Amino acid sequence: MKTYTIDVIAGDGIGQEVMPAAIRAIEAIAVSEEFSVTWRERDWGSERYLADGQMMPSDGLDQLASGDAIFLGAVGAPGIPDHVTLWGLLIPIRRAFLQYINLRPARHLAGVTSQVLGAEELDAVVVRENVEGEYSEIGGRAYDGRPEAMAIQQTVFTRAGVERVSRYAAKLAATRSGRLISATKSNGIIHTGPFWDEIVRETSSEVGGVELESVLIDALAARAVTRPASLDVIVASNLFGDILSDLLSAVSGSIGIAPSANLNPPRDHPSMFEPVHGSAPDIAGMGVANPVGQMWAGAMMLDHLGEPDAARRLEAAFEGALASGVSTRDLGGTASTADFTDAVIDRIT
Ligand code: NAD
Ligand code: IPM
Ligand code: MN
Repeated sequence: MKTYTIDVIAGDGIGQEVMPAAIRAIEAIAVSEEFSVTWRERDWGSERYLADGQMMPSDGLDQLASGDAIFLGAVGAPGIPDHVTLWGLLIPIRRAFLQYINLRPARHLAGVTSQVLGAEELDAVVVRENVEGEYSEIGGRAYDGRPEAMAIQQTVFTRAGVERVSRYAAKLAATRSGRLISATKSNGIIHTGPFWDEIVRETSSEVGGVELESVLIDALAARAVTRPASLDVIVASNLFGDILSDLLSAVSGSIGIAPSANLNPPRDHPSMFEPVHGSAPDIAGMGVANPVGQMWAGAMMLDHLGEPDAARRLEAAFEGALASGVSTRDLGGTASTADFTDAVIDRIT
């Protein structure tokens, strides 16, 4: 029997609630599939930071390097600046393991109602560039506390970085409708816009059967809400992709259902699977968080591990629970995290 070693970082806030729910569901499926999972649980996160000043051990990345995948909940806690928590755990993992693709599907799930007209037709994937762009490490602050105080952030797009993300997105589009939308901002004085456009155009034209449409990010945001059915694969920079993925999750019904895969396509390093949402301090500890985003991320992880049957069974179980009318508060229901998870497990066993 195959055994996978998965590093589990439940992290902060509702990460502690949705992670056990997803692990329960995967364990229930593994029983009847030909694999088992060794969960290496890591107590990394904000509590650890408060106790010893580090979000993860100094050799944390080395520890993760030997696993088959990383399963992450959420990072971020009130009272600790986000740049400390995120740059101490989440961002270093994405970068050290060159997880340059952040895949974020958004689609209508039966039983989920959306405020957006036409949302039942939504079936899109954001392919977000995940290691450069607006999230570069170049920049800083100066003159704090003085009238001249300033902050500078350099946006970094490299040819290699844009090529690999647009190639990935174009190949994905070729397996779906053949339509690829590139989110851009090339009409102003943002120098990176035309550079991004040129490379996306060149690269996607090398992949057969793909029709490219470049759409300005501001117009694309409006289109996502007015014509969700017109979207399919969207390739976007780090920041545009971040914003679009929250937007599309809301169009689909709730940020609580959206999953995300941080992939290192050459597989030289482990990939990481997490929900799109954060630690939700406003509902943390209440037992009402929606575990679907974490479970769906778990299904993406199973696909990545080469267990597509298990992935489909997991998706069918949470979709079945939703379709039967069981849902958490964010979707207008009354189920707790545990109630919803029970409904998912019922559909597995
Ligand atoms: P958030 O995604 O945590 O929450 C936004 C809103 O959505 C909140 O009202 C929350 O209650 C709701 N929500 C989110 N997930 C839900 C779920 N599963 N079920 C039900 N409702 C859910 O975003 P935020 O409030 O802007 O950020 C909170 C913290 O999380 C910050 O520290 C932020 O930096 C961090 N964050 C971390 C990640 C990550 O770990 N990948 C992602 C986003 C935000
Ligand atoms: C996400 C989050 C992170 C990001 C933050 C918390 C740094 O919003 O995973 O979408 O912007 O990548
Ligand atoms: Mn985000």
